[in-house]
Amino acid sequence: MSEEAALTPVKALKPVFSQEMIAVRVRELAAEIDALYGQEPLVAVCVLKGGFIFFSDLVRALHNENMELDFVRLSSYGKKATSSKHVIFSKDVEIDIAGKHVLIVEDIVDSGHSMQFLMSQFAARRPRSLRLAALVDKGERREVDVKVDFAGFKLTEGFIVGYGLDYAERYRMLPGVFEVTL
Ligand code: HPA
Ligand code: MG
Repeated sequence: MSEEAALTPVKALKPVFSQEMIAVRVRELAAEIDALYGQEPLVAVCVLKGGFIFFSDLVRALHNENMELDFVRLSSYGKKATSSKHVIFSKDVEIDIAGKHVLIVEDIVDSGHSMQFLMSQFAARRPRSLRLAALVDKGERREVDVKVDFAGFKLTEGFIVGYGLDYAERYRMLPGVFEVTL
């Protein structure tokens, strides 16, 4: 037996957003983002680990030559029911964001606790602007006031994996997004 907690086996993966649907949506978001920032200094910040595939596709679809890329990783602590309410950086950005436009790129926004933490930390550093892009916005699960400025898809229910999203670190590599049935 490994030291990891036993995992409820996955019974089925049901396709939700295909690789083709995602590619189309990423190009649409990139066009909106390009139209907004043009060539103004922009720091695109990937939220690890889940954001890494969306981020890599999105930034390659942008045309801003004054864009810098950086990465954060967040950890949340506490009891299961309140798990995402105490959030810390396990890795912060290395670039100074003061005076620059900042675009956070996340896989999914659910309760909003970790994004509320990240946005308040970043806001204190006085960026020129601060916006959030997420592949998936589970808006109905929001517990705090966090707005997704660029949402790939909206979803009301289901636990999804693929395109960066995991179930206990599995399935991040799938090219499309699937709903997990346990
Ligand atoms: N999938 C993966 N991670 C998540 C989800 C989901 O549906 N919701 C919040 N974190
Ligand atoms: Mg996850």
